[in-house]
Amino acid sequence: MRGRGQNNFINIPEFGVRVYDALTNIKAIREQHREIAQDLVSRIESGRLLDVGTGPGRLLREIYLLNPNVHLYGLDISSAMVEYAKKGLLDISVDIRQGDILSTDYPDRYFDLVTCTGSFYLWDDPVDCLEEIYRILGNNKSAYLFETYQDFDRAKVRAAIKHNLSKEGLIRRWIAPGFLMHQLSMTYKTKQISDIIRRTPFADCYSIEKVTLGGLPAWVRIQLTRRE
Ligand SMILES: C[S@@+](CC[C@H](N)C(=O)[O-])C[C@H]1O[C@@H](n2cnc3c(N)ncnc32)[C@H](O)[C@@H]1O
Repeated sequence: MRGRGQNNFINIPEFGVRVYDALTNIKAIREQHREIAQDLVSRIESGRLLDVGTGPGRLLREIYLLNPNVHLYGLDISSAMVEYAKKGLLDISVDIRQGDILSTDYPDRYFDLVTCTGSFYLWDDPVDCLEEIYRILGNNKSAYLFETYQDFDRAKVRAAIKHNLSKEGLIRRWIAPGFLMHQLSMTYKTKQISDIIRRTPFADCYSIEKVTLGGLPAWVRIQLTRRE
């Protein structure tokens, strides 16, 4: 069966990770991570925070810069991403592991907050993955998933991408729009996101809010709260 994309990352070589990092290391994406970090630190003062599909670990660094008291954890299905993130975050205390969010070793109710940025849309079994997030999340604690969605306003998004890349070098201006539009085309429509959540234990306590991040009006913040 054709997967949603997580398999493309499992065996990504170190060179591929460096290309990914170079392509996505643009001002607008750095701003996007900063804005997400600001949002998250307004919701957690201390305790354990897990970033699922942490990739190069940029969000973890932004959170650390804003609040070094939060205990940071990162999980990624790709061992090359994990090695890259570990090297980049050597100067901060963070627990980064290779693993699939479908089934993890973390104890029940271990985390005070779970987050992810641009990873949910790649998971082959999103319902089962959200069930795993429910299991590792503390009672009355929330997960905040920041994801792009497919039913965005094309004209606005094209204009935003053009604007965001206007100060980047020629190669990024040339490659990044196609890369971004391809990624966006792989994401879910907002209704599909609700349909997935309604099949999980979060069904009674969730919200999906459209937000602009890094100047790109194509994001949703999905809040999922564990209540028992
Ligand atoms: C598009 S990248 C985003 C990386 C990072 N969150 C960022 O914002 O730069 C998606 C990441 O999710 C990871 N990933 C995909 N499926 C996963 C899964 N089932 N469990 C854990 N990580 C996964 C990939 O290996 C990849 O690093």
